[in-house]
Amino acid sequence: MKNNQNFYYGKHCIDSKDINNVTKSLNSLLSQGPQLINFEKKVAKYFGSKYCVAVSSATAALHISIAAMNLKKNSRSYTSNMTFVATTNACLYNNLKIDLIDINLNNFNINLDQLESKLKKLSPKQKKKKKLIIPVHFGGLSVDMKRVHDIKKKYNCFVLEDASQSMGASFQKKPIGSCKFSDIAVFSLHPVKSITTGEGGLILTNNKKFYEKLLLLRSHGLKKSKKNHWQNDMSFLGYNYKITDFQCALGISQLSKLKGFIIKRNKIAKFYKKKLKSLHINFQNFDKSKYSHAYHYFIVNFVKVISDKKNKLFLNFLKKKGIYLGKQYLPIHMHSFYRKKINKKFVNSEKYFKQSYQLPIYPSLSKRNIEFICENLIYAAKKFNM
Ligand SMILES: Cc1ncc(COP(=O)(O)O)c(C=O)c1O
Repeated sequence: MKNNQNFYYGKHCIDSKDINNVTKSLNSLLSQGPQLINFEKKVAKYFGSKYCVAVSSATAALHISIAAMNLKKNSRSYTSNMTFVATTNACLYNNLKIDLIDINLNNFNINLDQLESKLKKLSPKQKKKKKLIIPVHFGGLSVDMKRVHDIKKKYNCFVLEDASQSMGASFQKKPIGSCKFSDIAVFSLHPVKSITTGEGGLILTNNKKFYEKLLLLRSHGLKKSKKNHWQNDMSFLGYNYKITDFQCALGISQLSKLKGFIIKRNKIAKFYKKKLKSLHINFQNFDKSKYSHAYHYFIVNFVKVISDKKNKLFLNFLKKKGIYLGKQYLPIHMHSFYRKKINKKFVNSEKYFKQSYQLPIYPSLSKRNIEFICENLIYAAKKFNM
């Protein structure tokens, strides 16, 4: 099969409705205007949370969500070792200690047994202190949030969902973002995510105190006087994490297509699973009665160990065909910055990373495109005895 286009693991999907919405918005306020208010209202309603704060990125969203929790310096935070650096960086911005947890090889999400056994071993004094858990819904598949919620109650923790990759997913029929089992959830609006505003992030919560603090943190910590429009006061250190109104106009238009995008992603995943049956691979496992997947990633996890040399040959072979597989993520403890701080082995994360790839998955991918990708993937896997 011939092909003259390149396929990356993710790609935005913009149409004329999006373009018209953005163009129209340029005639009004460009920042902190009507599109922002409308976008935040629509997002909160869509996901069933009381409040929403839209910001410039999910990284910014994670940063100020933790800041709003007001945890003491050196408080402990727990998250998966298999995440984007933004998750752990946000803990460091807030002077928290990071305790990384390995993944389980069933669905590549945080190993909750390991998390609970760590919390169990804390001293009575440490148990009393407020702690933070950040479940990352890896690749668009939710963590078992009921279990996370039980752990939160038992061990005195806040829960911040890093839902950057999982807009459109659900757990126990509740959309991720409803915060039924957490204090705050964060989505990313980067171009490869479920919907996009170019760059952008969303914070959802049911907690009014957090919401009010987040509004101030987004804009320098400045509070405007309700009485006199010319007066404002900064009572604590905030940031400029504002999103523009034309980005929000794009967000509103994209949100109206989210359901269709997720259906398409699920169809592509089903087609991949059928086509790739002959390979020795695992997929993310999940119980369909409990979880619905947003398929930010379509992960193929090879059963056999793959050497560095073979990995390079395999990826470069497919690249020559225009297929750029993803290799997300280098486990946190393997980044040179974190290597200096964390000297531990994370067997499952390392195994996952060595043996897994993300295949192209986005709404505009055609059946023919998928057939082309599968044909070449199967050929390459057999050629390199994977
Ligand atoms: C798990 C996770 N957290 C945080 C982020 C950061 O998102 P953003 O690029 O919107 O700052 C990403 C983006 O890839 C992510 O995948």
